[in-house]
Amino acid sequence: MAEFNRRTMLIGGAAATGVAAWAARPRDHSGTRGHYFTQVQAALVAAGIATPTLVIDRQRLDANIATLKSALPPGMAYRIVAKSLPSPDLIAHVRQRASTDRLMTFNLPTLIALNRTMPDAGQLLGKPLPVAAFAQALTALPAPDKVTWLIDSNARLAQYAATGAPINLALELDVGLHRGGFVAGDDFAAALHTIRDNPALHLAGLMGYEPHVAALPTALGVRNGALHAAWDAYARAVEQVRAVLGAGVAAAMLRNAAGSPTYRLYRDTQVANEVSAGSCLVKPTHFDTDVLAPHVPAAFIATPVIKAMDGTRLPGLETVGRVQAWWDPNLARTVFIYGGNWLADPVDPPGLQTNALFGLSSNQQMMNGGAQTQLSPDQFVFFRPHQSEAVFMQFGDIAVYDGHAIVAHWPVFPASA
Ligand SMILES: Cc1ncc(COP(=O)(O)O)c(C=O)c1O
Repeated sequence: MAEFNRRTMLIGGAAATGVAAWAARPRDHSGTRGHYFTQVQAALVAAGIATPTLVIDRQRLDANIATLKSALPPGMAYRIVAKSLPSPDLIAHVRQRASTDRLMTFNLPTLIALNRTMPDAGQLLGKPLPVAAFAQALTALPAPDKVTWLIDSNARLAQYAATGAPINLALELDVGLHRGGFVAGDDFAAALHTIRDNPALHLAGLMGYEPHVAALPTALGVRNGALHAAWDAYARAVEQVRAVLGAGVAAAMLRNAAGSPTYRLYRDTQVANEVSAGSCLVKPTHFDTDVLAPHVPAAFIATPVIKAMDGTRLPGLETVGRVQAWWDPNLARTVFIYGGNWLADPVDPPGLQTNALFGLSSNQQMMNGGAQTQLSPDQFVFFRPHQSEAVFMQFGDIAVYDGHAIVAHWPVFPASA
């Protein structure tokens, strides 16, 4: 009797474990396609697009521009971050909608291209360039007086000064990111004295970037503490400019701060008088943050399905594939897409995922989905890029969607360092 009971208990226990394990298996994430994406798909098909394409939704872009503009306090200027919106037409559109002539550029080819096509726009370098790049640019820029060069150290200041060229410059501040730059103190004073004593050097402003603030938790005031530490560091540097170069210079100079992650934290112009931002206007996934909640995703990678089939078959591991598919309903369907291996996450159809065992491919990437993944060849799969910088430049011209149709094609900058 005791033996019988023990066996019953063992069998019962095993059955219960099996039921619990089966209940805990992955649930099917597939579902019907989003109406929005089927509309974009129809527009792509109507436009004859049949290759991996970066799509910008112009209505959503404009909504993001309006969101940004309405968040700026009175007197706060807006500077467009060119590397995050790497298309001259896209930048021209944002310039016009946001009424700004201020650009931030990060590399020589973009700097020169924009200085040629938009000689009326002012450009502030977002990173310091080697003096040799500066010297090359001087011979290539039609409007060099519209460029403000970024200087992060006394050594670089000395190199630039040694060229003898007249230079508009901004000093980079370290306000907590610790990516280089000056902090108020002796080193900073030395830079200000060099500028004061050299008539070819003109201090156009300061730049202090603090994206780390938005990455910190709000709990226990951690984020707020970092923000105020950044602002205090900035204010000390401004005070030192006033002390060395005078109140006139300090009052007239630009005080650049922020980026997409933090621009909404500036409620007045006490510290900064201009903010830079680019990514939030198209909102890639890295910008899905609490601070940027009012912004909407406005850029997608659309790519055609090349092949669609039932099940998931892994080369040389067919049995493993069958066991996996029995266990995981998200392996019920397989598609191979045109291209792949981008810094991006699939968003439509829902539940589509890459296959870790099959791996990624830049040529024909395998994607798996549940039973409701009703994709056939020539239909489109949509991804959201993680970032706009660099990724936007991988697809040729940007297809501009206006809510109904593809209405324009915006060339991107050539890929460059
Ligand atoms: C100096 C500087 N300012 C602002 C930005 C913000 O760019 P985004 O708004 O695209 O995040 C960056 C991005 O790297 C930067 O390096």
